[in-house]
Amino acid sequence: MDHFEYVGGAMLVEQVPMEAIAEAVGTPVYVYSTATLSRHVGVFRDALARLDNPLIAFAVKANPNAAVLATLAGMGLGADVVSGGELLRAIAAGIPADRIVFSGVGKTEHEMRIALERGIFQFNLESEPEAEMLSQVALSMGRRAAVAYRINPDVDAGTHAKISTGKSENKFGIPYDRALASYAAARDLPGLDVQGVAVHIGSQLTDLAPLEAAFTKVGALIGRLREAGHDIRTADLGGGLGVPYDPALPVPPSPAAYGEMVTRVTQGWNVRLMFEPGRVIVGNAGALLSRVIRVKEGANAPFVIVDAAMNDLLRPSLYDAWHDIRAVRPAGARVASNVVGPVCETGDTFAMGRDMDRVAAGDLVAFMTAGAYGATMAGTYNSRPLTPEVLVSGDKWAVVRARPPIEALIEGDSIPDWIGD
Ligand code: LLP
Repeated sequence: MDHFEYVGGAMLVEQVPMEAIAEAVGTPVYVYSTATLSRHVGVFRDALARLDNPLIAFAVKANPNAAVLATLAGMGLGADVVSGGELLRAIAAGIPADRIVFSGVGKTEHEMRIALERGIFQFNLESEPEAEMLSQVALSMGRRAAVAYRINPDVDAGTHAKISTGKSENKFGIPYDRALASYAAARDLPGLDVQGVAVHIGSQLTDLAPLEAAFTKVGALIGRLREAGHDIRTADLGGGLGVPYDPALPVPPSPAAYGEMVTRVTQGWNVRLMFEPGRVIVGNAGALLSRVIRVKEGANAPFVIVDAAMNDLLRPSLYDAWHDIRAVRPAGARVASNVVGPVCETGDTFAMGRDMDRVAAGDLVAFMTAGAYGATMAGTYNSRPLTPEVLVSGDKWAVVRARPPIEALIEGDSIPDWIGD
């Protein structure tokens, strides 16, 4: 459920007309709804209500905007970060360090140092060499790092290959069969305090069965680790719950169904459970608002050329992802359309032959469910400035990231004086 609704023939975000935002800020622009964010946090939290003090650490990579993070911090969420940059952004937005978990296969010594200085809750380690490096860094600072190993459970998450992380051939985690040996080695590293187990098998999961299979393996491992004398106090079950993108497809499992499964599977684990949801919190809370530049004849369907492009919303070209495309002021007619951006690549295509509202030059369209992995994956390809972002709450709204002037792109480069010598 979201708060983008048609009232009087045009789309509102909460109480603000999308047209007013486009008029004031220009397009393309990402628009986020606070009411939708808080609704999703509430639904996710309610789903876990029977667990004892779970830590919900929002996956910052899904949407690192400071205003979004501050909103989530205000609702008590922690953060799952995967770089020093995300860590500092989360802290700057008011997320307390003791609610932050640091994931990722390539943490550098510098990033480890920053995280140790801030006193984060847990590092999720992904390899033995990483464990050795973290131990050394912690010792050099006179500290011990609280760690979990991320287990690769060799489970097929059944999602797009580029966002599947839990198969043995993926780069993530330590092999399930090596876990006891890796934990034994970690116990001997004096800079580490081994406190938990972690798992994350992929994103946009539309079936609970692979998650349940992975969690069941984690539960069995916790038992074996305890038998081997490890004091396991946390289990991080990652993120991954899918959201509805295409209204024609079955709705993914609800947070309530996910919470019921987790509550059942983790019974008796006797750990503090941690979660790293990203998409399910912010996905439906955002839309990318864009204006039609012109409509051009196509062989099979008209090309609707919009002013958003693959650099603003990469998901369709990278994962063949489906985003609902709606006219902000639908005229009533529908027509099969090819929706494309201005970037000079055939991959700059949002939809082919899509049955959608008929639109004309100058009309506004909204790409729905763009709050997760939208602005955060934007780039400046074709020298297009980064997309601005707006946050709405009720009848209030604010630009929470301004559109940079093109001069910033030009001035960012420098020309050495020996060129042309
Ligand atoms: N935890 C870890 C360790 C992760 O790698 C991820 C996502 C999450 C949590 C959050 O997953 P979520 O709840 O959002 O599914 N750019 C892709 C998605 C990449 C996800 C990467 N990892 C997309 O646009 O679909």
